[in-house]
Amino acid sequence: MIVDRLGRRFLNLRVSLTAACNYACTYCVADGKRLMPAQSELSADSLLRAVTLLQQATGIDKVRITGGEPLVTPKFDTFLQGVMALSLQDVSLTTNGQLLLAKRDVIKASGIRRLNISLDTLNPMRFRRIARGGDLDTVIRGIDAMQALGIKLKINMVPLRSQNFQDIMPMLDFCLARNIELRFIELMRMGHLRGNKSFLVDFVSMETLLDLISEKYEFRRTDAPYDSTAARFQIPGRGVFGVIANESEPFCRTCTRLRLSSDGHLYGCLSNAHRQYIGDLIQQPSHKALPELQNILVAALADKQLAFQGEVTVMKFIGG
Ligand code: 5AD
Repeated sequence: MIVDRLGRRFLNLRVSLTAACNYACTYCVADGKRLMPAQSELSADSLLRAVTLLQQATGIDKVRITGGEPLVTPKFDTFLQGVMALSLQDVSLTTNGQLLLAKRDVIKASGIRRLNISLDTLNPMRFRRIARGGDLDTVIRGIDAMQALGIKLKINMVPLRSQNFQDIMPMLDFCLARNIELRFIELMRMGHLRGNKSFLVDFVSMETLLDLISEKYEFRRTDAPYDSTAARFQIPGRGVFGVIANESEPFCRTCTRLRLSSDGHLYGCLSNAHRQYIGDLIQQPSHKALPELQNILVAALADKQLAFQGEVTVMKFIGG
């Protein structure tokens, strides 16, 4: 097994199906830009082959499907079906929810049990201002459709001081009423936000969030899995919410994540641009590919950091 001196190892794989996205959220992409597919993206079958090999090489038992936006690529249907057949302990998906209705039958047939939906506001005008694409009502109807299928949902919200601060409590109430765990994600210094004053303007800390929520609800800290990125809080009789407090309570020391980009690179750390290309390697027979992959994983694990530094390029196309 590949373990580092902090006892960290890879248990969680996040696979970005495509770098393309149908939104252009202000905190993700710079003005006037759009996320496009990578120049040479791997096919669904190649990505599945990579997952299979990584499962064998590291004992990874959890996979999260991300992007870009994973539902915009036709690869999604094949990949989802294939990954569900790999007998992993857990498969989940992060999506902006815009195409959930369109993909309802594929999602239902796959048997996937849980999804995370990114939603930053319930106000149509602010939605358009932040996401710069898509339509709020379609997302809400997608949420309803997934809940009707009995799929467990979490919602990710990135609170931004200048854009959706007033949406924090309405979002919490919306989620509590629907038995959805809301995850507030502290803004990260990714991409164009790194070294940009808008990060300082917009950053909302866990402390600020908890102060605000305590004006309406009593809550107490509750359990989170060892390698969870979230601090979780229980509002007795109402439900649970979480804070991914990347700045206030960094979780790098217990990180078990490994990331595979849609163009075949492995990343050991979200806050480090080092990466290793495995697109060719995975085409080889397992007895050749596995030892090489083991070496690559040792290097990828060494890319993990002690605290989140922020990074210029990574988040948007490997999906956090
Ligand atoms: N800081 C915090 N969260 C971010 N996300 C994307 N970029 C950032 C950032 N700079 C969120 C998305 C999505 C999740 C995968 O990461 O909103 O919910």
